[in-house]
Amino acid sequence: MTKGHPMPDSQKIYLSDYTPPAYLVESVHLTFKLSPNATRVISKIRFVPNPDSASRDFFLHGEHLTLIRAAIDGQECSPAVTDKGLTAQVPDAPFTWEAEVEINPQDNTALEGLYMSNGMYCTQCEAEGFRRITYYPDRPDVMATFTVRIEGDLPVLLSNGNPTDSGDGWAEWHDPWPKPSYLFALVAGDLRNHPDSFTTKSGRKVDLNIWVRPGDIDKCAFGMEALKKSMKWDEDVYGREYDLDLFNIVAVDDFNMGAMENKGLNIFNSSCVLASPETATDANFERIEAIIAHEYFHNWTGNRITCRDWFQLCLKEGLTVYRDSQFTSDVRSRAVKRISDVDGLRAVQFREDNGPLAHPVRPDSFVEINNFYTATVYEKGAEVVGMLKRLVGDDAYRRALDLYFKRHDGQAVTIEDWLKVFEDTTGRDLGQFMRWYSQAGTPRLTVADDFKDGTYTLHFKQHTPPTPGQDVKQPQVIPIAVGLLNPNGDEVQETVVLEMTKPEQSFEFKGLSSRPVPSILREFSAPVILEQDVDNKTRAFLMAHDSDPFNRRESGNALARDVLRRMITDGAAPDPLYLEAKAKILTDKALDPAFRALVLSQPTQEELAQMLFDAGHTPDPDAIFKATQTLVQASAERLHQDLPRIYAAHQVKGPYSPDAGPAGHRVLANSALWLLSRLDDCKQAQAQYDAADNMTQQISALGCLQYFGHGTDATQAFYDQWRHDRLVIDKWFAMQVSNTRPDQTVATAQALTEHADFDMKNPNRFRAVFGALAWHHAGFHRADGAGYRLLADWLIKLDPVNPQTTARMITAFQSWRRYDEERQALMRAELERIRDTPDLSGDTAEMVGRILEG
Ligand code: PHE
Ligand code: ZN
Repeated sequence: MTKGHPMPDSQKIYLSDYTPPAYLVESVHLTFKLSPNATRVISKIRFVPNPDSASRDFFLHGEHLTLIRAAIDGQECSPAVTDKGLTAQVPDAPFTWEAEVEINPQDNTALEGLYMSNGMYCTQCEAEGFRRITYYPDRPDVMATFTVRIEGDLPVLLSNGNPTDSGDGWAEWHDPWPKPSYLFALVAGDLRNHPDSFTTKSGRKVDLNIWVRPGDIDKCAFGMEALKKSMKWDEDVYGREYDLDLFNIVAVDDFNMGAMENKGLNIFNSSCVLASPETATDANFERIEAIIAHEYFHNWTGNRITCRDWFQLCLKEGLTVYRDSQFTSDVRSRAVKRISDVDGLRAVQFREDNGPLAHPVRPDSFVEINNFYTATVYEKGAEVVGMLKRLVGDDAYRRALDLYFKRHDGQAVTIEDWLKVFEDTTGRDLGQFMRWYSQAGTPRLTVADDFKDGTYTLHFKQHTPPTPGQDVKQPQVIPIAVGLLNPNGDEVQETVVLEMTKPEQSFEFKGLSSRPVPSILREFSAPVILEQDVDNKTRAFLMAHDSDPFNRRESGNALARDVLRRMITDGAAPDPLYLEAKAKILTDKALDPAFRALVLSQPTQEELAQMLFDAGHTPDPDAIFKATQTLVQASAERLHQDLPRIYAAHQVKGPYSPDAGPAGHRVLANSALWLLSRLDDCKQAQAQYDAADNMTQQISALGCLQYFGHGTDATQAFYDQWRHDRLVIDKWFAMQVSNTRPDQTVATAQALTEHADFDMKNPNRFRAVFGALAWHHAGFHRADGAGYRLLADWLIKLDPVNPQTTARMITAFQSWRRYDEERQALMRAELERIRDTPDLSGDTAEMVGRILEG
């Protein structure tokens, strides 16, 4: 075993080992005879030898299946079956395979394949779940047309494509578009629909439905509007039209991820589609809109053009995340969207990229593909698409995408194919750019400057630290968006994109009358860590004057980080310079309220821990917590006169709307409330709680009450009011943990696991408690290790039930080497306890191995 390769090589799959499938599939016919414990699946599959393959070995994936019978061209046969699949002797010519298998949806708590959720049947096949439904070449480069017959005594029976026929207790569906098996879906249940329709630009009328459990029908309207907006946007911006007569969305309560883009039948975690003003917050509404768009956009980027193999996952995910972020920027605020995306990227992706789990946007090996649905593949993958667009320009980007859709429609392709369309469109060589896909780790970009005879020069250096399995890094192509300001705050050089390709490179700006102030990496033009030796006066100056809103907030953030660093490491007092700059922004009425709220927010404790570690310190979670508290208290005191005014000025009158405008006022008012609650013993928060008529107002007030120790009654009242609403009760669980003081976090989480409504089988509920624990930096990292112990206890319990969710949540331990020796030892002990658990799932075993050894 070498460093960074903790698993025995035999279990690993390598990109370089790719071979085309021996047999292709022309068509698939499936019959489902539904029964909770004994569903029968009868498959009839037309195979043809693949002219592009030399192999004639016939292998079908299949797991957790009981084979009842099999036949080839009508002749019964006896395949050789293992727990991974089967092999059989087949003709070197087209043939028909038939098989009947039995599966058990009721006992399927892993939520992969066909399973049951609240009496409803549903499927999840990405990435490799279809092999739990029937024997099949379960790989994305095998694309076929599917016909499905469902037999079951439930009122609603759905599959992909268009309905072709139905009767009492059965329905048939046909999907005319060839697709890989991971896009297969089936739903059966007692469901109600929220119907609507959309007419495409060429005049095709598409029926749209959102299917939900009967009690949820009043929570569909917003999702439906988001869907129609997305369909229109993809026509306007990418020229992409929908291609079936029907588009169905189904909400399901038990789901491992956010949502799934199955062809014509998207399946959503109910938390990512259901919303009403009373039950969902502004942030929920925005997220739902983005996820509906994301899944819809996959119809072209993922479904019509899919991935050749799972190493290419970023081909569909990076591009689709980029597309949904463009959509949100267009329908809401571009600056606010960019700032929150970068906050998320830094908190999650930078952490991943700078620890044992670092991997390239396109990994070159894996054990369990489920473990690669990561922030690196998704969010850094989207950053890479954004950089590509910046480098080639908007027009060339659109022409390249047109060519991509034209050239590869109906195909399963690779990142090389994707970059080739850009090369062919622009004539550019993207060989070096490819490193963004193949090289892991976050580049560090350092900058120095000089000014002489009217010429201002920026000197950049780039360096990427080693990551597991990749010790030596090559220089990247880094698009650096730069603008220059003169000392009065006017822009003397509007944004230009410098293209850095070498380890060290300088760029000149001529003809300047005085030394300018640079604004570097505007709009966060590349996912790098910028190391800039700027004094805090300059940061405050940029915070006040930069014309790029991203960098304006970023200067404030950098200033806050520096102030906090000095407070943590040198015991410094809160810097008045920062408090003054913040006050100026807060009270600047010309600025978008949502933007002001972002400037008001402080760097997170996770961000500070990363920064300290990067600067060679050992982050102390208690000291970080203390410093953030001291600074926020100082902010509240400095702003004490403004806060009640700001709070009052941004109250939204009239009926609730989740639009960006009113939501922006609420987020600013509620940020003010959060500070104000430190000064008024939560009087205003209590008043807001009592008067709230929407979830945003209610939960913001409840958060203040809980955090400042006045929440006992409201917490109980909230439960009594919402006990019948699963999604609201998830919030109730999470908030109690998030709003604890660090010494109470573990005890609170522990007590909540004993609550009658705690259900570890439901991923949303499990994540509500343990996600909140893991993200409570000081609470999780309690010095005695109780946080580590509690999480490990529950991951060990969850693993046999739901390996996928266990493996995702174990990432809470990924940064263990960042902390002091005592905490490292405590975390290591918990990781080893998990690793040594008998019968640990493959998913979790891979993750724990990588975290320990990377
Ligand atoms: N493909 C889904 C998306 O990004 C995510 C997903 C992956 C869902 C695996 C379920 C299982 O939209
Ligand atoms: Zn996706």
